Amino acid sequence: MIKRTSKANKGRGSLESGMEDQSSNMNNDLHQLFLEELADIYNAEQQLTKALPKMAKAAESDELRSGFEQHLEETREHASRLEQIAEQLGESIKRKTCQAMKGLIEEGEDIMKEEKDSSALDAALIAAAQKVEHYEIATYGTLATWAEQMGHSQAVELLRETLQEEKATDEKLTQLAESTANQKAQSE
Ligand SMILES: [Fe+2]
Ligand SMILES: [Fe+2]
Repeated sequence: MIKRTSKANKGRGSLESGMEDQSSNMNNDLHQLFLEELADIYNAEQQLTKALPKMAKAAESDELRSGFEQHLEETREHASRLEQIAEQLGESIKRKTCQAMKGLIEEGEDIMKEEKDSSALDAALIAAAQKVEHYEIATYGTLATWAEQMGHSQAVELLRETLQEEKATDEKLTQLAESTANQKAQSE
């Protein structure tokens, strides 16, 4: 019985060391991927700090305008959290253009021009902003999961904090759409 156990342990031991090699490769690849995605979302947040004031200026309703202004402050904080994460890991954030955010912002700008004199302008702004929030939610959810898998607990905490703020913003936009913008667009 004892013999069998020790044999089993030995067998499992060699299997484990094989798995360790694989998992350290996996950790390394995941680490690189994490840094790529960190650079991507950092650039996305920077693009947003430029786009949000324009969206706030375009908004018809005071509530939507102040919503955008508040999220601009949060967005700046999101970028600085990403810097903190990189610093904690002894890394620096690479320069990268987030093409997805670029596209979302361009679409938002187009729709702002098209709906400029329309009563549906706020509805259009909310739609554009929610697409942005959903992109951020997907990215922060992914980053938090990867950070957890790699045992970067401080990063997990910061990423989840941002994730919650993106989700709250998305919900607030839904409420604004339901309460004002969509009704206004329908009534005129
Ligand atoms: Fe953000
Ligand atoms: Fe956001």
